[in-house]
Amino acid sequence: MSAALTDVDVVVVGAGVTGLTAATRLTKAGHSVVVLEARDRIGGRLWTDTIDGVRLELGGQWVSPDQSALLETLDELGLKTFSRYREGSSVYVGRDGVRRTFDGAAFPVSEYTEAEVDRLTVLLDQLAGQMDPLSPWDLPGAAELDRISFSTWLEQQTDDVEARDNIALYIGPAMLTKPAHSFSALSAVLMAASAGSFSHLVDADFILDQRVEGGLQQVPLLLAGQLGDRVITGTPVTSIAWDADGATVNGTWRAKRVIVAVPPTLVSRIGFSPSLPPVHMQARQHTSFGIVLKLHITYPTPFWREDGLSGTAFSPYQVVHESYDNTNHDETRGTLVGFVSDENADELLRLSPDERRARTLASLAAYYGEKALEPEAYYESQWMAEEWTAGAYATSFDIGGLTRYGATLREPVGPLSFGTSDVAGLGFQHVDGAIRVGRMLADSI
Ligand code: FDA
Repeated sequence: MSAALTDVDVVVVGAGVTGLTAATRLTKAGHSVVVLEARDRIGGRLWTDTIDGVRLELGGQWVSPDQSALLETLDELGLKTFSRYREGSSVYVGRDGVRRTFDGAAFPVSEYTEAEVDRLTVLLDQLAGQMDPLSPWDLPGAAELDRISFSTWLEQQTDDVEARDNIALYIGPAMLTKPAHSFSALSAVLMAASAGSFSHLVDADFILDQRVEGGLQQVPLLLAGQLGDRVITGTPVTSIAWDADGATVNGTWRAKRVIVAVPPTLVSRIGFSPSLPPVHMQARQHTSFGIVLKLHITYPTPFWREDGLSGTAFSPYQVVHESYDNTNHDETRGTLVGFVSDENADELLRLSPDERRARTLASLAAYYGEKALEPEAYYESQWMAEEWTAGAYATSFDIGGLTRYGATLREPVGPLSFGTSDVAGLGFQHVDGAIRVGRMLADSI
């Protein structure tokens, strides 16, 4: 005899920001909802934790001024923000291996390279300006741009290697966390359009503007708190049997509709009966997470400030390709956050933890000097080792995949709807996008 089913209007799979935003909206509209989360904690790719006495943002953390959906949510939840520390000079290490400090937006390269960077920025801004990030496949010339890699496109635009390496850095290592030869020029334009423009991605003071006091994970934690016992953790969804009238989830819950708010790459871990249409399975196989090590390095003081540095440092030629002052607003110790991405991350993950630490600290010393070699605490966020994420920051299509399958990822199948920040238009790959997708999914019910 089969166990009795529990009836609800909507089952939401996944207690990340997307799932919780959708569940909150549906609950307010009077629907009965249950949110099933695989992990023992709430928040998915948002995770604020204290390690070795330092409160760290292990996942997402920054808020930029264009992210109006996230700013509205922060306001509704009564959360306050503070500015990233940015007084003083920034550091750039060039192709010649020389470390240079600079002030303002233009980083220290030759006049020719600077002119080429500016020209490419205008070109990418124009393309991004013509694109609706909700339908990048409608951009004139989309098919051609989706057929070539971003690095090939850059080679077609300029002969200046340092200009190419820097433009590639802003979208490849810094955003999609993939090498620029592995995603299309169209995906690069989408990344820019989703942030309002390519210029926004280049401007660290814009894109990495604010942080949330106490940590960004409070967003999902507070949303889940309001939903109370409608959110059930430690419950991976492994089976969904569906028909025209509704769906049965894990053989336990019967719902009129199901929102599958998990990254596209994890959808195939759920056994659907009947199977999803072939094009849906194909579409998700053409997406993948990038890879990035997020480093958290704490020192007795923010020593770089005494040296007149803001903490902002970057270089396409360093293992840690970008690094910032990430000191919490209420701490006297100084914390740097640094990132090692794509092929550099592959290489470092083959080393022992001690060798890896030596390599990353040497890279920080190239930016900030010898004092960077002696931290008080050192921690690496490794999202690729997290079973219920398996990469970072988010997923993106392989070359040609965006025009071929992009629209499919947002299509419902019978009573099932799908989405996370990975399918957002504005706020693509960001918490702002998760909120926008969560709202769209709820409104479609
Ligand atoms: P998310 O992946 O968070 O949620 C999906 C949920 O589904 C997870 O909780 C998962 O456990 C669960 N799940 C999966 N399979 C399941 C199953 N079968 N059954 C039940 N549950 C299942 N963004 C930003 O705005 N600013 C930033 O600074 C950064 N920086 C950044 C750094 C790092 C290291 C990472 C990893 C990410 C960021 N991001 C970011 C991206 C941002 O964190 C991300 O876009 C959103 O948190 C995604 O939220 P979603 O709810 O869409 O997916």
